[in-house]
Amino acid sequence: ALTQDLAGRRVVVTAGGTREPLDPVRYLGNRSSGKQGYALAAIAAARGARVTLIAGNTELPDPAGVDVVPVGTARQLREAVLKAAVDADAVVMAAAVADFRPAVYMTGKIKKIDGEEPEPVTLVRNPDILAELSADRLRPGQVIVGFAAETDDVLANGRAKLARKGCDLLVVNEVGEHKAFGADRNEAVILATDGTETPVPFGPKEALAETLWDLVAPRLTDRPA
Ligand code: C5P
Repeated sequence: ALTQDLAGRRVVVTAGGTREPLDPVRYLGNRSSGKQGYALAAIAAARGARVTLIAGNTELPDPAGVDVVPVGTARQLREAVLKAAVDADAVVMAAAVADFRPAVYMTGKIKKIDGEEPEPVTLVRNPDILAELSADRLRPGQVIVGFAAETDDVLANGRAKLARKGCDLLVVNEVGEHKAFGADRNEAVILATDGTETPVPFGPKEALAETLWDLVAPRLTDRPA
C-alpha cells in the first residue's frame, strides 16, 4: 500500500458469522461469508497496522501478516473481542453476530419420534458486543465501528442504530437479493457521530475497506496502543 497511516496501530476486526448450536449436529446460523471483514483486515495490515482478525465460520484463507482467532458462537466471539480490544486503537465489528441463540443446548442429538411433533425451539438474546464495547470503552480514545444490514428505510434505521449502539462509525448496507451477503462487491453509506455521511459506491469489498480506514485513521488518538 502507498499509505502507512496505520503503522504502529493495533486494530481488531471481526468477520464471518456466528453459529449457535442446538445439539451436536445442528445450529442456527447466517449467510455471512466473511469477505468484508477479511478485506478490512488485509487492508489494515497493508497500511501498517498489527491486526487481530476474529473469524467466525468462514472458508477464507488467512490474510497475510494477520493474527487470526477462530470462534464459533457469539459468546466465544465476545470473549475473544473483549480480550483483544484491551490494547486496540480501533475495533471494527464486521461479523454477523447472532442476535439470538437456542435457550437450551441438547447434549444428545434431538431425535424424531414416530407420531410425535417436534418440541418448539425457544430462543434467548445474545449479548450485544458492539453496544457493550462502545459503553465500556476498554481503552480511552478507541475508535469503534459497527455494521448494519438493513432492508428498508436504510438511512433512518442506520442513524437510529448508530445512536443506540454508541459506536463512532456505522457502515450501513442495504441487503436484499444479490446484495452484501456472500457477494464480492458491496455498496454502503458510512455514518459518523459528527453527522457526516460518506457514500461508498457499488464496488469491491476492498474499496469499502480502504474508505473505512480513511475515516478511522484521522479519528485515532495521538497515542498509539
Ligand atoms: O443489532 P444488529 O445485529 O443489527 O447490529 C449489527 C452490528 O452489531 C454489527 O456490527 C455486529 O457485529 C454487532 N453485533 C454485536 N453483538 C450482537 C449482535 C450484533 O456486536 N449480539
